[in-house]
Amino acid sequence: MELTYRPRRLRRTPALRSMVRENKVSASDFIYPLFVHEGNQIEQISAMPGANRWTIDTLVEEVARAWDLGIRCIVLFPKVSESLKTEGGEECFNEKGLIPRVIRKIKDEIPDMTIMTDVALDPYSSDGHDGIVSAEGVVLNDETVDQLCKQAIVQAQAGADLIGPSDMMDGRVGAIREALDDEGFEHVGIISYTAKYASAYYGPFREALDSAPRPVNSKPIPKDKSTYQMDPANTREAITEAQLDEQEGADILMVKPGLAYLDIIYRLREESELPIAAYNVSGEYSMIKAAAEKGWIDEKQIVLETLLSFKRAGANLILTYHACDAAQWLKEE
Ligand code: PBG
Repeated sequence: MELTYRPRRLRRTPALRSMVRENKVSASDFIYPLFVHEGNQIEQISAMPGANRWTIDTLVEEVARAWDLGIRCIVLFPKVSESLKTEGGEECFNEKGLIPRVIRKIKDEIPDMTIMTDVALDPYSSDGHDGIVSAEGVVLNDETVDQLCKQAIVQAQAGADLIGPSDMMDGRVGAIREALDDEGFEHVGIISYTAKYASAYYGPFREALDSAPRPVNSKPIPKDKSTYQMDPANTREAITEAQLDEQEGADILMVKPGLAYLDIIYRLREESELPIAAYNVSGEYSMIKAAAEKGWIDEKQIVLETLLSFKRAGANLILTYHACDAAQWLKEE
């Protein structure tokens, strides 16, 4: 054939391919989510093979391991004992609670690691919702935001670097920004769960924290989070959320879940100049783990390809449970 263009010319050798490679994943892109509980045994999370509920001491060791692999940010999720859960989730702003203690311990031992926290009531709510549920079964917006501000301040006091509101209440980014500033935490950033969809991909995470919505009394508890998390059918609404978060002072915007929402990552990358994070959520992780356990896929190749897809779509940061494995594989390459 007489072809002028033969794209295969640039695919011929590894060196040529590496010269024209457009995107790259590296350990410093990762934010590593970690679960912690009060117990003194590490507990495996059955729906998330390879992920654990760490004790405070073993969590610190895991953070040190992540640091040595080149990971520079972690995010913490607490499994709170049932006896501490209330309708208002007040434990979320207990200065002596699990998360503030863990933050202090990590800052003592690995002071340079960036610590992101999750702000929402679900781990602390006896109703299993991210906000306060009224007697009529409505997830209350403004009342919840007051609690979230208190939660954010307690986390900042303990040493958190980035506050991550994951609750999807309206106006929470602006309110948290103001609350942090009033308390002298103007240096603490906000990584907003900007476009967080009401997704079935969070299933394994809710098992990890035992935080799924549940009827505990006579209240009509909403079965899902669709009155505050976004409808998976919508794109334009994600842009609106991004505009609001920017106006309210968010430093980083996040899209969650990641893999089924690459188009949303791409759109936000086009619409905003802020860093964009993708959350490669629990269900995405567990699907890969399950297929790999069965020997149906090559875990390493699939994970690295998946992480690369977030970068290609425009994400600058990736929250992923694969962080340590991937960092190790990248080192070996
Ligand atoms: C709760 C929260 C959730 C996740 C992070 N923070 C679950 C939810 O909204 O129900 C999900 C993370 C994952 O699935 O990996 N505010």
